Parts: sequence; C-alpha cells; structure tokens
Amino acid sequence: MNSPLPIFPSHRFPEDFVWGVATSAFQIEGAAAADGRGESIWDRFCRQPGAIADGSNGDIACDHYHRLDADLDLIAGLQVDAYRFSVSWPRVQPDGQGAFNEAGLAFYERLVDGLLARGIRPYLTLNHWDLPQALQDQGGWASRDTVHRFVAYARQVVARLGDRVATITTHNEPWVMAVLGHEAGIFAPGIRHRGTAMQVAHHLLLSHGLALQALRADGCRAPLGIVLNLSPIGPATDSPEDRAAARLEDGRSVRWYMDPLFLGRYPDDVWQHLGGDVPQVHDGDMAAIATPMDFLGVNYYTRGVVSASGAWRAEDSGKPLTDMGWEIVPEGLTELLLRLHRDWRLPALYVKENGAAFRDTLEHTADGPRVHDGQRTAYIASHIAAVGDAMAQGVPMAGYMVWSLLDNFEWASGYAKRFGIVHVDYASGTRTPKDSYLWYRDFMQLQRARRTARALAAEALTAN
Ligand code: FCB
Repeated sequence: MNSPLPIFPSHRFPEDFVWGVATSAFQIEGAAAADGRGESIWDRFCRQPGAIADGSNGDIACDHYHRLDADLDLIAGLQVDAYRFSVSWPRVQPDGQGAFNEAGLAFYERLVDGLLARGIRPYLTLNHWDLPQALQDQGGWASRDTVHRFVAYARQVVARLGDRVATITTHNEPWVMAVLGHEAGIFAPGIRHRGTAMQVAHHLLLSHGLALQALRADGCRAPLGIVLNLSPIGPATDSPEDRAAARLEDGRSVRWYMDPLFLGRYPDDVWQHLGGDVPQVHDGDMAAIATPMDFLGVNYYTRGVVSASGAWRAEDSGKPLTDMGWEIVPEGLTELLLRLHRDWRLPALYVKENGAAFRDTLEHTADGPRVHDGQRTAYIASHIAAVGDAMAQGVPMAGYMVWSLLDNFEWASGYAKRFGIVHVDYASGTRTPKDSYLWYRDFMQLQRARRTARALAAEALTAN
C-alpha cells in the first residue's frame, strides 16, 4: 500500500534542539572476529539454542564495520545534527581488562572523525549491553570488580575520543541489562535470579557515577549522562489490586533508577517488596550514584499497563500495535516527559531512542527499489509531535533521536524485526532508504530552513 506521508509536526523547536538518529555496536557492526575483537556476552548468548528467535547472531549483522564510509554518507544524507552510536567494549579491550586493542580504538576514531568531517555531532555510548565475555566468566555485572573494570575502560575510550564527541553516555538502559538479562533471562547473559538482577542494577548505577567522577577528574569536558528506558506505567483497571501492581512496577522500572540518580536513594516501597533480593550497598555508593549529570536520555517505545493477575494483553487494548506487539501510544511520551519534569530536578533532557518495527516490503518500482513504510513515518511524526506537546506544556527538551538508522539485529528477535529507516538486505548488505528516511530528511530540511529564517529575522531586527 502506498500510503501518503504524514505532514510535518507544526511545533516550533528551539534553534539548538538536536535532531539525530541512533544505532548500537552489536546490532550493526558484525566483523565479530576482525582485528582482534574479543567475545561479548551477546556472541555467547546467541549460541544458546532457542535464545534468538531466528537462530541468528551478530557475526555479520549489517557489516557496518566494513561499510563505515557508506553508512556515514547515509547519515549525512539525512541532514541530522547528531548520530548516536556505541563503542563495543570487547572490540577495544578484548578481555575487559588489561591490554587495549589499537585496531578497535582506531575504528571508532575513524567513525568520530568521519562524522565530524560530515558536520555531524558524535553522541557516544560506552555500554550498549555487549560486555566482554571474559568479564562475565568472572561474574559479570553481578561482581563489584566489573564496576572498576568499566571505569578503566571508560577512561581509556574517553582519553582517545573525548575531545571530539558531543556527549558521552555511560550505560544504555540499565533496567534491560539487569531485569531482562538476569531476572527474566531472555537477554544475555541469560540468568534467572531476581537478587542477581538487583545487584547488577546497583553495579551499573554505581559504575555510572564513578565513571562520571573519574572522567571529570581526567579533565573530560564533554557532557556526561545516562540513558534509561522509561514508560508511564498505569493499571489495567481501577481496582486497588491493579493500582498497587502498577505502582510497584513504576517503582521497579522507573523510580528504581530515577531516585538513586537524582535523589541518592532507592524507593522504600520497592526495597520492602524485594525482601532478601535487595542489593548489597556499600557506604558512599548512593552519593556516587547521585553524582550530578549533564543530561538524561530517555528511550520511549510504548506505555506500560499492569494488572495484578498478569492477564492484560496489548492485543486486547484496541490500540494499534507495531510488529513487536507494542501499543502505539504517542501521548504516553508526552505524559512521561511531563512526569519526569514534575517529579525530579532534571539536567538537559533528550529522547535518545524512539521508533518502531513494522513488516516492510521492498518493492521494485520504475524509480528503483522503494519501501513504503507509511506506518513507521506516522509513528515517528506522532512521537515528534508528542515531544513538541510536552515542550509546549513547559518541559525543556534538548533533542530527539530516531531508532534506528538501519534495520539490524534486534536482540532476542534476531533479524526478523525491522526498526530501520534504511532497509538492509542481509544477504547482499544492500541499503535502501525507506520512505521514513526521506520524510525525516525533508523534516530536517524544514528545521534548518526555520533556523536560517529566524537567524535572518534576528539580524534584520538588530540592523534596524
Ligand atoms: C531498545 C534498545 C535498542 C533497540 C530498541 C528497539 O531497548 O536500546 O538497542 O533494541 O530497544
């Protein structure tokens, strides 16, 4: 179906609002054995039978490692301000401690320099889930040693790249690593133990705070922060049971991260609920976690709905769903941003990921290959408008980034779920910009034109 492209959100975004597009290392790079890269927990997890829906792995992925220049040109073609990427820890430090791998560091140097040469600001993430397997063999994030290993890794990467990147994120989505990786066991490293998950969450937060302190002591001037996956969490019905269940889930997924980062303490209700599964916290940990940040990144895909019985299903909600089975609820993003602004004292606030998987078809037309992904474009447009709505209600926002530049390895879903605004043919590696890419590019052009018009108007005013 060739649905018409949605119109552009009419909201006025500030001049310095940062528009971008995002990826992560494991999901796109491939080149798993190239140039001295070490094994990551995701390499190992992919080899567990049944762990990945289509039995795939990240060995080749989008082969971004070997197609860097062409992919940088695709980003430049979008005319975005910024590109958010992650550094693969096992690529730059194969064992997670000890020697660094020069070829790995050189790759990210080419990436950063290639972005700057094209006028795009590099937004670096240090940990987007791909822990070196060698550290997992010593306990991984459940071990307090990993906290100090992470700080050492962060210092080395920032020593090499920190002078040229626009911002540095310590961790992407600690909740996912802790809960999906160590409690639900559906993501690497595939552990199922709630107490371990809570210890992992604590170590991730602690390593974030200690890294901030170390990087600043080293003289790093790039803004530093963290990226959380957050949603508004509501009850399925008005019953006291459902409301209590939703409040607890809000505690476990939102407040368990926001309170320590911004208030220096864990929420009491969740602490009580966890009983014997609370993490070990040393003196000074909470103050370290609450080290002031320069920005907070939020990843938003859908809302959360909770019923005490666990019976609520997105399929029954009447809302449209993405190919992940996630409800499409743009107003949930506005609600979330308003709530964050109301309940905590925030630094610069970004949406660092937002996007949707749909079943795309690559059509061969007279004008060449096309992907008419009107649903994805509508998703992105409506969520940009939701950000604009939050701003109109007083939430200062610093930027917005689309997930994702490329179709890629969607973790436990393998390659079956496509989030890209660029289609990837995995057999040949061929990239085809989808309609959503063309729409976002045109929207970027409009933002740039507005910036120029405003600058000209300001000039005219001062000249008078
Ligand atoms: C987020 C992840 C990202 C991608 C999107 C769909 O949780 O940060 O890597 O998988 O979901």
